[in-house]
Amino acid sequence: MHHKPAVLKSNRMRKEEIRITVYNYSKPEELPEGAARLITQAQKATKNAWSPYSGYSVGAALELTNGEIICGTNQENIAFPSGICAERVALFYANSKYPGMAIKRMALAAFTNNQFVEKPVFPCGNCRQALLEHENRVKSPVEVIMYGNSAIKVIKQISDLLPLPFDYEFGN
Ligand code: THU
Repeated sequence: MHHKPAVLKSNRMRKEEIRITVYNYSKPEELPEGAARLITQAQKATKNAWSPYSGYSVGAALELTNGEIICGTNQENIAFPSGICAERVALFYANSKYPGMAIKRMALAAFTNNQFVEKPVFPCGNCRQALLEHENRVKSPVEVIMYGNSAIKVIKQISDLLPLPFDYEFGN
């Protein structure tokens, strides 16, 4: 059975554009109140990473609604897939310590080759999925501050990082 190439005209096709908004800064001092401190915490946390295989140390600092800051770092393993990213270490620890308490915002930093990375560090797909579940659970947006030496990017909610997420309801 032959399928028509997808580019062939179809009167039924309707194009949809999905937009996200990214806020760009060049240094931490330009960010809103408290964000620079959160970045510093993420930077400090990179020292506690266990990353002998990649040499890439990530720090995640989460600010909870009670004002507490919880940090996580990537933890690698000689059996490759057994390791876990900084974001999920921090997220799961926060959720274990304070089940159901919302994360207001999170800062990410990464250190490699004796310096913090130049371009902002973005959460991987697995972490986006895990963070989205938290955002849906607590029903309030989690802001993400992604640090780089030469640029800082901020998004206002995790759902911006994961358009068209998996949902049991899809198509029903
Ligand atoms: N890593 C994180 O911890 N967070 C990210 O957002 C990207 C990647 C870790 C996984 C691995 O230990 C190392 O960085 C290199 O990929």
